[in-house]
Amino acid sequence: MACPLLAEKYEEIAYKKFFGNVNPVEIEIGCGKGKFLMRRAEENPGINFIGIDRVEKWMKRRKQQSEKKVISNIRFMKAEARGFLTDAIPQTSVSVFHIYFPDPWPKRRHHGRRVINTDFLRLLHARLKVGGLIEIATDDEEYFMAIKKSIAAAMELWDNVRETRNERILDGMNKTNYEMKWESQGKPLFYMELKRK
Ligand SMILES: C[S@@+](CC[C@H](N)C(=O)[O-])C[C@H]1O[C@@H](n2cnc3c(N)ncnc32)[C@H](O)[C@@H]1O
Repeated sequence: MACPLLAEKYEEIAYKKFFGNVNPVEIEIGCGKGKFLMRRAEENPGINFIGIDRVEKWMKRRKQQSEKKVISNIRFMKAEARGFLTDAIPQTSVSVFHIYFPDPWPKRRHHGRRVINTDFLRLLHARLKVGGLIEIATDDEEYFMAIKKSIAAAMELWDNVRETRNERILDGMNKTNYEMKWESQGKPLFYMELKRK
């Protein structure tokens, strides 16, 4: 467990300065190698994208490209999700959060390490615009059920909750690395979309 006293601090992002415009913002949490977000950014020049992962080596090349502004509407950053969202992301400023195949931590004694829980959903809710979306995917059915329980614990936050199996809800043709890997192995995949009230 990270010591809270040593937790990283992040500056609040001023989008106008950061991207040079005030276009809508989408954030991918745990973006890994960043394949999904890069393609989505190329296809949606009128939206700004931030991809974060706490492990820099997965997205090293993407981060270097984004620092050189090869594609002007995307930035990759090494960051831990909770601290980053708390410190760096202004309230009610995000259109879509993408969270695909978060580490499932299948052992019961490790469930506390899972990124999605009731508190985290509240944090995402506070950073989303009204009508904003959270897109979630996992291959771990038990984690999916636990996420559903966390949502049910604060159902008043959400206007609409959709779930599908083996069918991506948003941006159906664009997949993450893990999504392609598990799909090719024939694993069942669980998807969810939450719409903020
Ligand atoms: C299983 S991988 C999935 C990567 C990618 N989303 C995909 O679908 O291909 C989970 C990723 O989440 C990152 N991660 C886990 N916990 C995190 C946290 N608290 N903050 C930021 N990234 C995190 C890991 O480093 C890893 O790259």
